[in-house]
Amino acid sequence: MAKDGNEMGINTRLAHSGNNPHDYFGFVNPPVVHASTVLFPNAATMAARSQKYTYGTRGTPTTDALASAIDGLEGSAGTIVVPSGLAAVTVPLVAFLSAGDHVLIVDSVYHPTRNFADTMLKRLGVEVEYYDPHVGAGIPALIKSNTRVVFTESPASNTFEVQDIPAIASAAHAAGAIVMMDNTWATPLYFRPLDHGVDISIHAATKYPAGHSDVLLGTASANKACWKQLRETFYTMGCCAGPDDVYQVLRGLRTMGVRLDHHQRSALAIAGWLEGQPGVARVLHPALASHPDHDLWKRDFCGSSGIFSIVLKGGGQKQQHAFLDALRIFGLGYSWGGYESLAVPVFLGDRVVAKGPYDGPLIRLQIGLEDVEDLKADLARGLTAAAG
Ligand SMILES: Cc1ncc(COP(=O)(O)O)c(C=O)c1O
Repeated sequence: MAKDGNEMGINTRLAHSGNNPHDYFGFVNPPVVHASTVLFPNAATMAARSQKYTYGTRGTPTTDALASAIDGLEGSAGTIVVPSGLAAVTVPLVAFLSAGDHVLIVDSVYHPTRNFADTMLKRLGVEVEYYDPHVGAGIPALIKSNTRVVFTESPASNTFEVQDIPAIASAAHAAGAIVMMDNTWATPLYFRPLDHGVDISIHAATKYPAGHSDVLLGTASANKACWKQLRETFYTMGCCAGPDDVYQVLRGLRTMGVRLDHHQRSALAIAGWLEGQPGVARVLHPALASHPDHDLWKRDFCGSSGIFSIVLKGGGQKQQHAFLDALRIFGLGYSWGGYESLAVPVFLGDRVVAKGPYDGPLIRLQIGLEDVEDLKADLARGLTAAAG
């Protein structure tokens, strides 16, 4: 941080973290360093690699500025910055799993994480097992002598179950396993995984940190015990991010607090309104009192973001598609965390445990920064079409 300390308010910290303007002639924003080659002053320095920067894949002032800002938010010992949120999932898994190891992955995980586990990890000889997002203190029954990693994501992708992270972390640690968490939904503003026992906190910075649906980036932040191994694997894999994308995410962080606050308020207003609509069976948003995991969410989280799902009252794919096709403001597109509202049909066919039953088809909504009344009118159009 350029200014002192973690005691400042979150928006102050977001505005000033990562770089010190006086390191670069007082310019408020840091320069974007485009680099492969870094020159050494002489052969001895080159042989010993005894200077701060040695090659573009191993960090630049631009990646350091973002990593340092994220470390401040996460309370982590170090952060790797990688080209996508998916890479922020896969690099830590490769860093800590070897042939013969067992990994426990929450069944409600982001689908490409499951795909990586079912293809690459299995091919590399890792035993992959999925567990119920509500397992909580029941996790010891699933841990084996070769369990090395427990992978969590909370709230869950698409169905928004909340996991008991402290209970899972203490059981995993007692058995010598480490805990990773995909914390993209909450961001470190609303949940700080390392404070709850997680060893590596993972983010698709593509979402709220970038905020404008134009950049792909991921971060993985480790505690002191896991940092060296994570960093070494990152260097070994050459999985570094491009400087312009890194800069855009640092830029996005400056406004992330105010954007998230707006996403939160709009999503809550719309989720509450949807609960009263006749065509809606359930709203899956953990900050609503009606959500089965609401108390757990309230215990551990200090805010909610802008993405949740609804369950239509009855029907199937026909009603789901009618709803989606009637929308005029919500775009039909993947990803979330940007300024614009999006809707996607939810598919649960890949799950082995957490697959319902639900009363009807599910639709995931990303609430953007548009005006709430306009978004409600659009969703009302969708519900009318689904009912018809
Ligand atoms: C929970 C979660 N984690 C990770 C990712 C991957 O992020 P990216 O799209 O940057 O690869 C996504 C993307 O949708 C996600 O929803």
